[in-house]
Amino acid sequence: MSLDNIAFESKIEKEIPIEPKNWMPEKYRKTLIRQIGQHAHSEIIGMLPEANWITRAPSLRRKAILLAKVQDEAGHGMYLYSAAETLGGDRYDLYQKMLKGEMKYSSIFNYPTLNWADIGVVGWLVDGAAIINQVALCRTSYGPYARAMVKICKEESFHQRQGYEAVTVLAKGTKEQKQMLQDAINRWWWPVLTMFGPSDDNSPNSEQSMAWKIKLLSNDELRQKFVNNTVHQVEALGMDIPDSDLKWNESSNQFDHGEIDWNEFMEVIKGNGICNHERIQAKQRAWDDGEWVREAATAYANKQQQKSA
Ligand code: ACO
Repeated sequence: MSLDNIAFESKIEKEIPIEPKNWMPEKYRKTLIRQIGQHAHSEIIGMLPEANWITRAPSLRRKAILLAKVQDEAGHGMYLYSAAETLGGDRYDLYQKMLKGEMKYSSIFNYPTLNWADIGVVGWLVDGAAIINQVALCRTSYGPYARAMVKICKEESFHQRQGYEAVTVLAKGTKEQKQMLQDAINRWWWPVLTMFGPSDDNSPNSEQSMAWKIKLLSNDELRQKFVNNTVHQVEALGMDIPDSDLKWNESSNQFDHGEIDWNEFMEVIKGNGICNHERIQAKQRAWDDGEWVREAATAYANKQQQKSA
């Protein structure tokens, strides 16, 4: 082992953050570019299902909240692309890979938001699941990624609370509103559980990522934390979880849940989910329509550079 490698491993062991100028194994760098890049894409694609509801939100207050939330997600994406750039990742290249289907984004954003209850449930459950994962990532071994997560988690926490507040209104509402909420929970519960990735014995990247403390908790540990946290929230709403196998396990002190449909998950990440095509098409269109903005911004930057030279 080289001296550089010994210094790197010692930092990992002592939980001293790895910084952009520090030596790091090539595979560590590539793993991070992959994970941070996919995380950034998820934030950017994740704007679509909610942006779809900004004009239809039921009040000015709800529109303003949703607009702010969707803007936050764009900011998270930019933060994360910047973090990937500190590792030598190229923002343009990463984005093109996502458009070509060569890089993934979170499976959850390939499900449609059919009604207003879905928007509350996305804020509450999807952002709730994202926080569980991202709080752990605040201690990830790569400094810029960990620091980006701290700010992102603060905003995600607001997103989760606004979602829960929106669903409490429906839960206290008319019979139709309650039904609408239950229907949304039924459709989102299982896809949300897959956000944490495949089970540990089917997760090819976990062992190395955990050894390097890129991941602090395994996919199954994060999923379990989410289930344990969320069951009581669903009960407080007077709603049901669509899992007849869900039960409290006295010996392990946690909830056991039913079998996840991993075939569906694999299909979604292969590009065959309900909205995969629509999401990529929307982003490709936005990219093409933005050509003139990129040209104008580049011309302006060149002019400024010439002036200061
Ligand atoms: N959706 C899409 N792809 C997924 C998902 C998912 N929910 N879960 C796992 N995958 C992919 C992995 O990216 C990997 O594919 P790749 O090797 O081609 O890159 C493959 O499935 C196997 O999974 P793992 O070996 O478990 O992959 P990994 O160690 O990267 O763990 C995880 C997956 C937990 C999602 C990790 O990458 C992570 O923590 N990422 C950061 C958080 C994040 O991206 N959140 C996005 C949603 S939150 C939001 O945007 C609001």
